[in-house]
Amino acid sequence: MLSNFLLLHLDYNIHNMAGNTFGTLYKITTFGESHGKGIGVVIDGCPSGLKLDVDHIFSELQRRKPGQSKIVTQRHENEEFEILSGVFEGITTGTPLAIFIRNQDQRSKDYSHIAKKFRPSHADYTYTQKYGLRDYRGGGRSSARETAARVIAGAIAKQVLKTLNVKVNAFVSQVGTITLPEEITIDLNKTEDNIVRCPHPQTAEKMIQLISQIKKKGDTIGGKISCVVENCPVGIGAPVFDKLHAELGKAMLSINAVKGFEIGSGFSAVQMLGSEHNDAFESIDGKVSTKTNYSGGIQGGISNGMNINFNVAFKPVATIIPAQDSVDEAGNKTTVEGRGRHDPCVVPRAVPIVESMAALVILDHIMINKSTKLDDLKS
Ligand SMILES: Cc1cc2nc3c(=O)[nH]c(=O)nc-3n(C[C@H](O)[C@H](O)[C@H](O)COP(=O)(O)O)c2cc1C
Repeated sequence: MLSNFLLLHLDYNIHNMAGNTFGTLYKITTFGESHGKGIGVVIDGCPSGLKLDVDHIFSELQRRKPGQSKIVTQRHENEEFEILSGVFEGITTGTPLAIFIRNQDQRSKDYSHIAKKFRPSHADYTYTQKYGLRDYRGGGRSSARETAARVIAGAIAKQVLKTLNVKVNAFVSQVGTITLPEEITIDLNKTEDNIVRCPHPQTAEKMIQLISQIKKKGDTIGGKISCVVENCPVGIGAPVFDKLHAELGKAMLSINAVKGFEIGSGFSAVQMLGSEHNDAFESIDGKVSTKTNYSGGIQGGISNGMNINFNVAFKPVATIIPAQDSVDEAGNKTTVEGRGRHDPCVVPRAVPIVESMAALVILDHIMINKSTKLDDLKS
């Protein structure tokens, strides 16, 4: 009896160690790799009664997909998905949703030249050390193809959030050294007006030019995505380990190629005085708000009802055309050259991924918060 319990416990922990599951009540598990049969997601905990907007899921995938413009990779990936369970007559049933995308355009030969070599700053070396083998085709599970499954789960989370009037919007705020001017007011409706997904047309144009130049050289460049969550209810999150910004940080840092996360004032807080940084409270028509929002909408790990603002930094990704020093699996000195189709800058495609991960965290914590107060439990 006891050993059965231990085995079950061990099994549960091993399952967790595998790290393919995210969330507590709105819980997702993604599976598949870029050159296998396909990829997909199982969503456990999606509330029943949601009229699923399939076109919206598809349009979110279009925002992430390769080949969408001249400044992203020219790979072509299938984005057609099949809903295997959890929906009856177009409405979610409350049972697990399983959604699958079959892979196409698998030019695995593009990757045969790196089968036994380690691409600098990719996941080849660490995967080989950890698992003892590696699916080198397209990077296998380390490929950002996996993020299509997150975008599906995030699109559905956004649809649930929409019924609560909570909005999650991200945009590109920096590419290389080109940043959005500080003085402008950002119009979130303008993000989709250009291929780089920066809501300021003049800055967007400069970013597009820079990415095009970098692409011609066969190099890559980094960028920053900013995200805003509007109408988030007050009081979601948790006081100690599961602080809302810690959960958002984990979600963002789990995205391929992410190197940094900052909430509210972030690293710029280091140079400020308390008298500048404190968000003074005010009450307008009986509603409490703050005059500034350096806290980024979260204090003590709990949302305060202001917009939640955060930034996510993406590195210049690993695949570049010029030869780089490396070693092979036997430890011999070698060089690696990029041949496959790759992204010169991933931020335009990563905007819906950031939004999706944010939507997953916010929805999960709204659901968890329903059991905080006795009164909420009773209702
Ligand atoms: C949308 C998106 C597209 C990506 N495309 C590429 C690519 O074409 N080439 C590449 O080397 N890395 C690409 N990456 C990043 C790799 O997946 C990532 O760097 C790799 O898995 C190693 O993980 P790490 O950078 O988080 O340490 C992409 C990431 C994202 C989010």
